[in-house]
This record gives sequence, structure tokens and C-alpha cells, in this order.
Amino acid sequence: DAGDHESFMHKEILEQPAAAERVLRGRLDQRFATGHLGGLNLDARELREIKRIKVLGCGSAYYVGQMGATLIEELARIPADAEAASEFRYRNPIIEPDTLYVAVSQSGETLDTLLAVQEIRRKGGRTIGLVNVVGSAIAREVDGGIYLHAGPEVAVASTKALTNMYLGFAMLALQLGRVRDMSIADGRRLIGALEALPRKIEEIIATDDHLAGVAERLAEAESLFFVGRVRGFPVAREGAQKFKEISYRHAEAYQTSELKHGPLALISPAVPTIAIVPDDELVERNVAALHEIAARKGPLVVVTHDSVPLRGIKAERIVVPRSEVELDPILLTVPLQILAYHAARHLGHDIDKPRNLAKSVTVE
Ligand code: G6P
Repeated sequence: DAGDHESFMHKEILEQPAAAERVLRGRLDQRFATGHLGGLNLDARELREIKRIKVLGCGSAYYVGQMGATLIEELARIPADAEAASEFRYRNPIIEPDTLYVAVSQSGETLDTLLAVQEIRRKGGRTIGLVNVVGSAIAREVDGGIYLHAGPEVAVASTKALTNMYLGFAMLALQLGRVRDMSIADGRRLIGALEALPRKIEEIIATDDHLAGVAERLAEAESLFFVGRVRGFPVAREGAQKFKEISYRHAEAYQTSELKHGPLALISPAVPTIAIVPDDELVERNVAALHEIAARKGPLVVVTHDSVPLRGIKAERIVVPRSEVELDPILLTVPLQILAYHAARHLGHDIDKPRNLAKSVTVE
């Protein structure tokens, strides 16, 4: 029941702070500054033996998986990457006993992801799930996992489940890091930042009016770019995905660094770029790329922190609260959900049930 909300997507966007609190509850161990994920079914020795992480998911779950892999690599220093579950099985992947395979799925029923898990298990790989729906097919198939406790999600465009996936990855990274060389101080720093996230998500949601105005202007464009680097690139991918899913505008994600190797040819006053520019070690490079876009008269929307100097570049700024730098991606993602929502609403589309798409794809 969407209650007073005009769509489930809107309701689910607003539910994110409460959902985020639920996924964190009871899973942060203050004393040892680590994650406390009982459902993993992996003890400290087994966690220490993991040499590589492979994340698998489809659609938005794949993009959050890419954010999660980056986070694990950064915090736990374990090589990690994400791949579309729909492709994985078909290239006869090498399944290694010391790799941890992480299946990410809101519904737990996406057939491509389920079949990937089954293939891994057949070949002796160890699997865990980051799944929202309790008792779903993927949840039953994996060796252990983290339930997301986002509550039922109805809108095809996933919001609160994605946020909780990200938090699941953050706790996993913390737990993996703390049985390796992550210090207590670093563990505490991350726990403090995780606990502060729900309120920061609320702050972003409170900027709804500003985001609605920006979205209405973006909705007029036939084609848009979403760009980001390293931590920001999966954010851009997810932002483009949401926008195209429900506004039906052509939205393409690119690494900011790759613009000059092709897409710059398409920049013009008719093609806006939404740039993800957190205040991190890449900020100077990112701002330089904004100059390149502005010089070609490409309209710019910059999702950023208030400390980032845009140095006279003409751009619409969307400012998000700061977190610890590793956790920035989730706060950068939330305004992109809200932009997509308002663009679709402005265009009069069915927000919860976009054409040609299903909430859960149970066919190949
Ligand atoms: C479908 C939906 C996407 C979703 C993907 C994965 O394609 O349209 O929004 O991200 O499935 O769904 P899952 O339930 O596995 O997270």
C-alpha cells in the first residue's frame, strides 16, 4: 500500500533512513571496531583465507556491486571486482576455492544471478548473498549471507534496497579488513561514519524541491551523460540507469577520464552532463574535466561537496553531506534517485512500472 504517496518509488525513497538503520542494527561491534555479520557462516580464519572477492548481480544490483567491490578493495585490501551475473556463466569462468563469490539481489529471484550461484557451487566455489527477500531462491542457495532488511520494495526502480546493499558491503568490508591489517582507529572511524549515514540521507531527501527543479530541466534533454571516476563511476552508472529506466531519456555513463577519448565529440548545449565530483583525491582532475565540458557549452549538473571549488565554471550544484571518503558513493547516489523520480514525474510516466521492465526477471 503506497498510502498517501503518489508512487511506491517516492515512498521507498523516503523510507531510506529508517531502512538504513535496520540493516545496521546489531551488526556493528563497537568493542572490537568491526562488523558483526553472523549470517556469513565464516569464522575469522576463513575470512582471512579469502584471496579475492567476486561480486555478481544484475542491473542496479550489479552497479551497487561495483561500488561494493571498490569499497572492499580499499578497506580490506583484497582484490575485488563486480561482473554482470548474466554474463559470468557464459564465459566459463575460473572458479577458485579461495575466492568469495558475493551474489547481490533485492528479490533473490533474478534467474541470471541464481544460475551464476549454482554454477559456482557446482564447481566448488564459496558463495554468500546480499539479499532482501528472506527465504528467496538465492537466499536458499548460498552458503551464508547478509539480509538487507529494507522491507518490501515495489517500484521497479530500486532505491532503499540498493542503499542497504551498499551498507551490507560496507559492513562486510569492515569485517574483512579487521581480520587483516585495518587498525582499531580506522574501524572506529568507519563505524562512526556508518552510524551517521541515515541522518545524512535524510538531509539529502530534504532538498527535494531543489532536485525537482533541476530534474525538470534535465527531463527536456533527449540525451544525457553521467560521469564519475573510480568510486564515482559506479555512482554515475547507477544514476544513468535510474534516469533511463523511468524517464526513457538516453542516459549514458562514462568514466570522466575517458570523455576525451570519444564522448567529448557529443558534448553540446543540447546534451547535459551530470558529473559526480566528491571532495576526494581526484577532485582537481575532475574539475579540469568540467572545464572541458563547459568550454563546449555542455550544460553541467555537479553532484559534489560544498568544499569543492568550481572556479567559475557555470554549473548547477547539488551538494551532499560529507562522510568518510570511502562511504561517499552512497550519499552521492541518493540525489540521482530523486532526479530520476522527478524527471519521470514531470514527463508523466508510470513511475513504478516503467514500460518493458519487470521488478524481478525470472527468465534468462
Ligand atoms: C530487474 C530490475 C532492476 C533490478 C534487477 C536486479 O532488471 O528492473 O531494477 O536492479 O532486476 O534485481 P534483483 O532483484 O536481483 O536485485
